[in-house]
Amino acid sequence: MDIVVSGIRSTGKLHLGNYFGALKNFVKMQHENKCYFFIADYHSLTTHPTPENLHGSVKQVLAEYLACGLDPEVATLYVQSDIPEIPELYLLLNMNAYLGELERCTSFKDKIRNQANNVNAGLLTYPTLMAADIIIHKAHKVPVGKDQEQHLEMTRTFANRFNRLYNVEYFPEPVAYNFGEQLVKIPGLDGSGKMGKSEGNAIYLSDDPKTIRKKVMKAVTDSGPTEPNQPKPEPIQNLFTLMNVISSSDTQQYFNDKYNSCEIRYGDMKKQLAEDIVAFTEPFYTRIESILADTNYLRKVAKMGAEKARESATRTIKEVREIIGFRQF
Ligand code: TRP
Repeated sequence: MDIVVSGIRSTGKLHLGNYFGALKNFVKMQHENKCYFFIADYHSLTTHPTPENLHGSVKQVLAEYLACGLDPEVATLYVQSDIPEIPELYLLLNMNAYLGELERCTSFKDKIRNQANNVNAGLLTYPTLMAADIIIHKAHKVPVGKDQEQHLEMTRTFANRFNRLYNVEYFPEPVAYNFGEQLVKIPGLDGSGKMGKSEGNAIYLSDDPKTIRKKVMKAVTDSGPTEPNQPKPEPIQNLFTLMNVISSSDTQQYFNDKYNSCEIRYGDMKKQLAEDIVAFTEPFYTRIESILADTNYLRKVAKMGAEKARESATRTIKEVREIIGFRQF
């Protein structure tokens, strides 16, 4: 069974794009692999959250992932900062990570531009912390999006470098977990592009019905087709794409026919889509609320996750220390 590790950003609530993009696959994946899912709260310190924000976001993210079906009895679900072996491995990896390669990393160059007044060492060494996250469990696979491929490549570099330096075959080379064609891209409803937090066009699983209706009714449309059976312009196609994953096939068919016969009324289509999204997110919304209110349960989940994760992490650190030459007298 493959060992899979995935870090979850501790900032930001889950939106429909996250759900259909990765999360649905995580829920499936947990039964087919030995999965370690963790909330990357150490990484979030690079942007200096307040203590309240830090804790609040970790809690929210944990509740949302549980609400979506990550099963703490099946996968190992934990908070990064509960595992002291991760920063220890990070320190050790930093000794063999070179300034030049860290500075060349695209995400670091982006950060220099975006937070020029806070270019801290944590940003520079973000890739070694991420590598530590991954190889602490000797992972084989990491489900990553395009934006994380370079970090995964650097993880392989650090893992291989360790193996070479100490002449061991200790760390496996982690590769990207490929979901293949199952990956559904959810568009935004503001005309073009994908749904995303930074795009400001996201519909969150934790949005209440009123917010969802408002967001959907604001979706960009046009004055409608003037000839039958025309291809759909991007903003319109985006509405249909979302409808295709959310609504019943009858509904999809109905509006598709209306479009093709030039009788479509986008107001009606948006109303229907909004109601279907509300119906879809409602169970998530309810579960998120009830999990958030159950601190005892969250505490139990985090504790169980930390215990399982540390079992694997302490084993790795013990062996790594031995390989490096830290020995007891
Ligand atoms: N950098 C990842 C992101 O921004 C989060 C992350 C941290 C991660 N550590 C990881 C992802 C380890 C996979 C494996 O999304």
